[in-house]
Amino acid sequence: MKLPADSNASGRDLGQEELALLKEVIESGTLNSTKGTKVKRFDKEFAKEYGVEFAHACASGTAALHTAVATINPDPGDEIITTTITDLGTIVPILYQNAIPIFADVDPLTFNITAQTIEPKITKRTKAIMVVHLFGKPADMDPIMALSKKYNIPVIEDCCQAYFARYKGSNVGTIGQIGCFSLQQSKHMTTGEGGIVIAKDRTLERKIRLFIDKAWGYGDPKPDHYFLALNYRMTDLQGAVALAQLKKVRDVVNRRREAAQMLTEHLQDTPGITLPESNEDSIHVFWKYPLIVDTDLFGVDVFAFSTMLKEKGIFSAPRYIQKPVFMCEVLKDRRTYGKSHCPYDCPKRKGEEEIVYDVNDYPKTMKALEHVLVLPWNEFYTSEHVDYIARSVKEAVDFYLSKKGERV
Ligand SMILES: Cc1ncc(COP(=O)(O)O)c(C=O)c1O
Repeated sequence: MKLPADSNASGRDLGQEELALLKEVIESGTLNSTKGTKVKRFDKEFAKEYGVEFAHACASGTAALHTAVATINPDPGDEIITTTITDLGTIVPILYQNAIPIFADVDPLTFNITAQTIEPKITKRTKAIMVVHLFGKPADMDPIMALSKKYNIPVIEDCCQAYFARYKGSNVGTIGQIGCFSLQQSKHMTTGEGGIVIAKDRTLERKIRLFIDKAWGYGDPKPDHYFLALNYRMTDLQGAVALAQLKKVRDVVNRRREAAQMLTEHLQDTPGITLPESNEDSIHVFWKYPLIVDTDLFGVDVFAFSTMLKEKGIFSAPRYIQKPVFMCEVLKDRRTYGKSHCPYDCPKRKGEEEIVYDVNDYPKTMKALEHVLVLPWNEFYTSEHVDYIARSVKEAVDFYLSKKGERV
């Protein structure tokens, strides 16, 4: 069976609505957002949907997270606590602002960092906590916000995979100080590439807007480039697509959740497989559907499962990322600015404790990666698709259980 895929039209809800708005942009001859109307309208509508003071679209999820970090404005050598399991787009902005990512271990069931793993990492250098709601599952925010309050440290929420995921009645992205989203091809809503920054606090608006636009005081009586910033502007072509996608995203989220609920029911009592949790207090929006596989029970690793599923046309991601992000070359070898190894060897940190990323400090991360098999997920999955996926997973389970039986 061929499953709808988010890499092409089979699994993306793009059509007449996007084309009509794109046509307006093309016919207007104004493709940039500075003079155009679409991104401005999108910003307003997205903020309204999220019930926040403002939203600003930008070039990517990475750009959104960079904007958030720059808005916190760490000094060189300051620290930002984040997760070991994420896209590098969460981490790179920290280094680009000359701050140091400090990693908290994850909960191996939710794949998210927790207050318990964050607190021991807090130092006088900590300038922010960057929480990722991985795969669309909300992190446990109440205890994290309690830490934020106790130590007076702002929280940035990376919601790139978590549109309209809800934690105790609130949309994630509106719980911490700043929320960031990605509009990259595979996300719940897409403009190919793109990002969004939201915040409740109006005082952050100017800084966020300026960082996206070279810190140029557009519209000010005497504009200038006020501080170091980039051109992270979204084009009005993307703004047109974003506006149309915004109308559809809640439905996309609901369809993904409904399909996921079906799979959960099918796989409920499957031996050796732990399923993702979604409940009233923590609504998962299933960017992907992660399974936790008891590899000891089956006597094979998650790659074996993945290979079997691939033969049936189900392209899963064993381990999601192959290693914790701190083991990527850029961080391990500190390939940053020339030969300086800044910000790790920043002169501003002279005499302070050296930052060491030791895999032995992250047993839960290693366990989570070893056991996770990430199933592709899509709003166009029908009950037939879900049945097929469930049957294929069960066949793999039965196959490896019987093989194990033969070996014993
Ligand atoms: C959790 C997470 N953070 C950050 C990013 C970076 O977003 P972008 O690729 O739009 O830069 C992504 C995804 O792509 C992501 O999934």
